Amino acid sequence: MTTLEIPRLERAPKAARTFKVHSPIDGGAFAEAPDCGAEDARNAADRAASAFESWKRTTAYERAAILKRWHALMIQNEPEMIRLMAMEMGKPVTEGLGELKYAESFVEWYAEEAKRIYGDTIPSQFAHKRIMVARQPTGVVYAITPWNFPYAVVTRKIAPALAAGCTVILKPAEQTPLSALYLGSLWEEAGGPAGTLQVLTALDPVPVSSILLNDPRVRVLSFTGSTAVGMTLYERCAKTMKRLALELGGHAPFLIFADADLDAAVREVIACKFRNAGQTCVCTNRIYVEEKIAENFTDRLARAVAALRVGDPLDPATQIGPLVNAQGLEKVERHIRDARNKGARIVTGGASPRGLYFEPAVVTNVDSGMLLMQEETFGPVAPVLRFREESEAIRMANDTSYGLAAYLWTRDLGRAMRVAEALDYGIVGVNDGVPSTAQAPFGGRKFSGIGREGGRWGIEEYLDVKHISLALSS
Ligand code: SIN
Repeated sequence: MTTLEIPRLERAPKAARTFKVHSPIDGGAFAEAPDCGAEDARNAADRAASAFESWKRTTAYERAAILKRWHALMIQNEPEMIRLMAMEMGKPVTEGLGELKYAESFVEWYAEEAKRIYGDTIPSQFAHKRIMVARQPTGVVYAITPWNFPYAVVTRKIAPALAAGCTVILKPAEQTPLSALYLGSLWEEAGGPAGTLQVLTALDPVPVSSILLNDPRVRVLSFTGSTAVGMTLYERCAKTMKRLALELGGHAPFLIFADADLDAAVREVIACKFRNAGQTCVCTNRIYVEEKIAENFTDRLARAVAALRVGDPLDPATQIGPLVNAQGLEKVERHIRDARNKGARIVTGGASPRGLYFEPAVVTNVDSGMLLMQEETFGPVAPVLRFREESEAIRMANDTSYGLAAYLWTRDLGRAMRVAEALDYGIVGVNDGVPSTAQAPFGGRKFSGIGREGGRWGIEEYLDVKHISLALSS
């Protein structure tokens, strides 16, 4: 793979060391990124704390104007940004445009939302008192983002933080440093003042995180990643009493009732399960189909999955790109091996023809003892199970420690509401396999995390409520 030349990245912040960025397309190193350490983190915290003093005093209209310019610059640079993401983490360019549009929609939404950070006035029982409630930016935010949505998960966290008047230190995943640096450089070009958004890329996140987690000036931690790491961060933040937003793992069920529109259900299972090659927190991991339609549904699904085009993410016809790295592929292969050894039937796919590419699979004869059913596969594997009645489907769907997203498919309105209300999840798609959108809350229950991103909820994570009691002189 040749070295990537993107002039905008030449202006990215420098560190004493750099690390190589490898592409999942062929494993080759195609660029270098700054390898930040403890000293860089200390300096970034100083700069973010000092920038906060002026940024918090800007008007919502000033902040919104910068966010709007940032949004316009993202639109202007779409082709380069999509290509960069495909090279860094393998998302096919056609799907990449969808992600970038989604990322832009958070910037646009929070540019508008900045102007709606309203306060309250509350009647007092005393004639001489006035009770007011103001909402003020919390302070410096530390955002840790994953590689699977290198633009959208970043803007879903940092656009509301910046709109609220907070300053941000962003530590992107080591697999996708360049897309984060690109976003950072567009922020600067849009007029974002120095120190308001700093991107610290690092091969090893520990030295940077140790400094920032212990720094009492960092008031909010927002993290998207595994439940295990989220739990550690939760504990580590107790000492400095940080506010936390944790978007963690999921194990999404997809319930298909016999009265469902099967063509639409197949289409949406594909969109839900196979987007980003199954490397999405809200991808379904377990498809439960009512017994009487199970065979028909599985045949249709298997035919549609076998027709998916696996290949080079830079080719606009590709639907499934490579998995992100060797660990990702190893996990998917381990899950398929385990299922096969325990009696599952691989109806289609399930092999890795070359490199990090994996043929999307449909698996039946699945039981709860298989790894597929216990861990997030994070790959293009769709296990299909059966149920007999509604109560059994709900029980199986809720039988997990996770609670991020769930889906159900039916034409019966009463059942749709009953089941949606009974599912113990933060997001429920009813006849909708891709419910995520900028104006709605995104987040989970139980071991899937705490807090919400998106919509009017997303900005609350970065605002403190202040009661101002004013006693009038007589
Ligand atoms: C994620 O996997 O965190 C993002 C998925 C989405 O926003 O739909």
